[in-house]
Amino acid sequence: MATYREKTRGKALSSLLHCLLFFLLGALAMAASVAILHLSSSEWRCSRLTDVNDDDPSSSEVVEEWGMVRTRGVQFVVGNGGSRPFYVNGFNTYWLMVLAVDPSTRGKVTEVFRQAAAVGLTVCRTWAFNDGGWRALQKSPGVYDEEVFKALDFVVSEARKHRMRLILPLCNNWDDYGGKAQYVRWAQAAGVIDVNLTTSGSVSADAFFSDETIKGYYKSHVNTILTRVNSYTGVAYRDDPTIMAWELMNEPRCASDPTGDTLQAWIGEMASHVKSVDPAHLLTVGTEGFYGRSSSSPVRLRVNPNADVALVGTDFVRNHRVHGVDFASAHIYPDTWLPAGATREEQVRFAESWVEAHVADGEGAAAVGGKPVLFSEFGVSVSGAKKAAAFNATSRDAFVEAVYGAVLRSTRRGGGGAGALLWQVFPEGTEYMDDGYVVVLPRAAATAGIIAAHSRRLQAFNSRCKTMTRNVDVRLVKYLLMMFPLECTLEFFIF
Ligand SMILES: *[C@@H]1O[C@H](CO)[C@@H](O)[C@H](O)[C@H]1NC(C)=O
Ligand SMILES: *[C@@H]1O[C@H](CO)[C@@H](O)[C@H](O)[C@H]1NC(C)=O
Repeated sequence: MATYREKTRGKALSSLLHCLLFFLLGALAMAASVAILHLSSSEWRCSRLTDVNDDDPSSSEVVEEWGMVRTRGVQFVVGNGGSRPFYVNGFNTYWLMVLAVDPSTRGKVTEVFRQAAAVGLTVCRTWAFNDGGWRALQKSPGVYDEEVFKALDFVVSEARKHRMRLILPLCNNWDDYGGKAQYVRWAQAAGVIDVNLTTSGSVSADAFFSDETIKGYYKSHVNTILTRVNSYTGVAYRDDPTIMAWELMNEPRCASDPTGDTLQAWIGEMASHVKSVDPAHLLTVGTEGFYGRSSSSPVRLRVNPNADVALVGTDFVRNHRVHGVDFASAHIYPDTWLPAGATREEQVRFAESWVEAHVADGEGAAAVGGKPVLFSEFGVSVSGAKKAAAFNATSRDAFVEAVYGAVLRSTRRGGGGAGALLWQVFPEGTEYMDDGYVVVLPRAAATAGIIAAHSRRLQAFNSRCKTMTRNVDVRLVKYLLMMFPLECTLEFFIF
């Protein structure tokens, strides 16, 4: 008859064996989970931004290979196999190509990249079109000015030198730099269509989206740009990782068809055309991000800044669900979009809710379906003809901070708030082109400081995440606890 002591020991031994077995199972489960986590495109858990010391340069030191930017779930990613997220602090300077044509102003391109890089900006959005008119890239359908093309080559080459990625729109909705109206004029000159093209606006040029000849001109322009071999670097545009993404058009609208069907068909056709020429680069549409009346719920329509924008033929959700469109974009212009007289506070509140709604829709399975959302233009005008009554150069800083803050709320949790691009940054000596939105960094110390602080947060986050992806996920711990019953753990420790 076993003594009490022996009985206890026997029981303890069996429970130790039990636990060892569970341990083995647990280890197996852990290995499986790590494998699953590496394979899955699920969100990464990164340390919270608040844990990162902004002043510690080692936390933001990143030296990476110069690879293509891709998407993984709702994030942009770079690095080996897309190992690191790429949250973006960026800017717009639309005229780089045109000033690069003339040797006397070419240096402005280098200057703005240098100044932008100094405050940590990593992405620049600039026009890859100039149709008809002064210093046109495309002088007439399919006819290009080689000197202007070389200037665009120079912009791409300089961007690479400053580790700056580019987003390149391929056409304009508006008349500046030619735009869709120029394409319609070309078709008219060729006797293909007959339109009463008033200079006033975009609606009369909407034939751009449906006329077969004009669609052919546009596709041919796409081919020419994407297959261009850079005369400075020898790299074809479609192979160059300096280019982060193509944009079908700057701010497309097709108000002549408020149902949105015309623009939707055009996006589908052109997205698959771009991908057929260049499957490597990311692509977005270029919309301002309005919700359309025929597509969106009444709840979403209330997010719009005014009632009219629901009828311009676009819809944020529908437009970005299109196959081949890799990420969504929206612009933020409360100063021109909200009804006149909106206070500064109202404009800031609008910007915050606009960001929140678009990020949620970018991520939402029932909406865009899990794509990054880039706020590719935001700003308020503080001078000149378009000056917003509510803002001056000082109070604009609060607006910039509010937009950064709103996007950061998503970035912090590894979400789809992929970044924001200020409209717009100019170097000194180009203020004659200021539309009231311009920030000249060397002359705007406070704004430059806000931009730099935001860049440091994103850099720290992007680099911190690299190490975190190799670490054990919180979900893994939960999973292990499930596999490794608490009872066993307790018994083991009691013994
Ligand atoms: C073109 O449209 C404008 C504005 O709607 C109008 O004033 C003008 O008469 C039209 N021209 C022709 C030739 O129809
Ligand atoms: C800008 O606006 C703010 C708030 O209205 C005001 O306090 C400040 O004095 C203004 N600054 C300038 C330079 O006008």
